Amino acid sequence: MNLETTYLGLKLKNPLIISSSGLTRSLENIIKFEKLGASAIVIKSLFEEQIKQKINSVISLDSENTYSQADDYIRAYTEDHEVGEYLEYISLAKRNINIPVIASINCISATEWTSFTKKIEDAGADAIELNIFVLPSDPDKNAENYEKIYFDIVENVRKHTKLPVAIKLSWYFSGLANMIRKLSWTGINGVVLFNRFYSPDINIHQLDIKPSDIYSTPDEIYNSLRWVAILSDIVECDISASTGIHDGEGAIKQLLAGAKTVQICSTLYKHGFQRISEILSDIEKWMKEKNYNSIDEFRGKMSMRKIQNPAVLNRVQFMKHYAGIE
Ligand SMILES: Cc1cc2nc3c(=O)[nH]c(=O)nc-3n(C[C@H](O)[C@H](O)[C@H](O)COP(=O)(O)O)c2cc1C
Repeated sequence: MNLETTYLGLKLKNPLIISSSGLTRSLENIIKFEKLGASAIVIKSLFEEQIKQKINSVISLDSENTYSQADDYIRAYTEDHEVGEYLEYISLAKRNINIPVIASINCISATEWTSFTKKIEDAGADAIELNIFVLPSDPDKNAENYEKIYFDIVENVRKHTKLPVAIKLSWYFSGLANMIRKLSWTGINGVVLFNRFYSPDINIHQLDIKPSDIYSTPDEIYNSLRWVAILSDIVECDISASTGIHDGEGAIKQLLAGAKTVQICSTLYKHGFQRISEILSDIEKWMKEKNYNSIDEFRGKMSMRKIQNPAVLNRVQFMKHYAGIE
């Protein structure tokens, strides 16, 4: 059975990638992931926000320090320190596993951090995933203001590295299909659809805000599935599906919709690392049943242009079902 696929110009032995999380920040884990059959890993993101927070906490510890020169020194030191550790980890990963290592940066601006991507390239990463998300919550900013950030980041990153670049996105765009297609024209190599975010919940007993579930459920696959099916014929880059893929069935659905790869995270936290080999053997079992010898034989078979009634992918109301339920 041939499970090979390509993603971001990389040749992968199968479509199953371990997505960015604390799980991929441990050498012990990533060695296990490779043994269990994962085809690539995305390292835990280096957070632009995290770096800033660290800078601020160091500065506030020394409240008498009001000299901007000293601030600059602290800023440079803390940035280097965080980034240094990250770069060392990339090299360590590359020395210890043979599958591709994708670095990840969580970014919200097209500022000087983009030059770090050159260091990531030098450290040996095979690709970079840019986890870009700015919540469009400012009523004084219009869609164009928000969208520009994404294009600026890509443009700046491209100035510093030749590595393949993927962007991990949210669905918070008013013209989602248009935006993602335009991004695919910037020369990026892939989009990851979609990220899953921290969402605040309300504790009705304490009357305060608490985080909602950190982990996804299998039911969360449908948003991404619809958009992978709609976009896979339209965009000019690879699509990696993410969110709610917990088993072989979820992975197969996303490949049928047109994804080049699938990324998993919550299912590993919930069910253990063995899930990787279970998903791979479920894909193989299904391919045998259907007489498919390679992923390419069925990838995209259920994308918007290939299905008989593409209108079902645009349907959003449960008309028929609501009508029958009083
Ligand atoms: C504990 C945890 C940490 C995560 N950290 C990151 C991160 O650093 N960068 C990132 O892009 N996504 C991060 N994610 C999001 C996952 O990569 C993934 O996109 C999300 O969990 C949806 O996939 P899933 O349904 O398979 O869990 C994290 C998720 C979890 C649960």
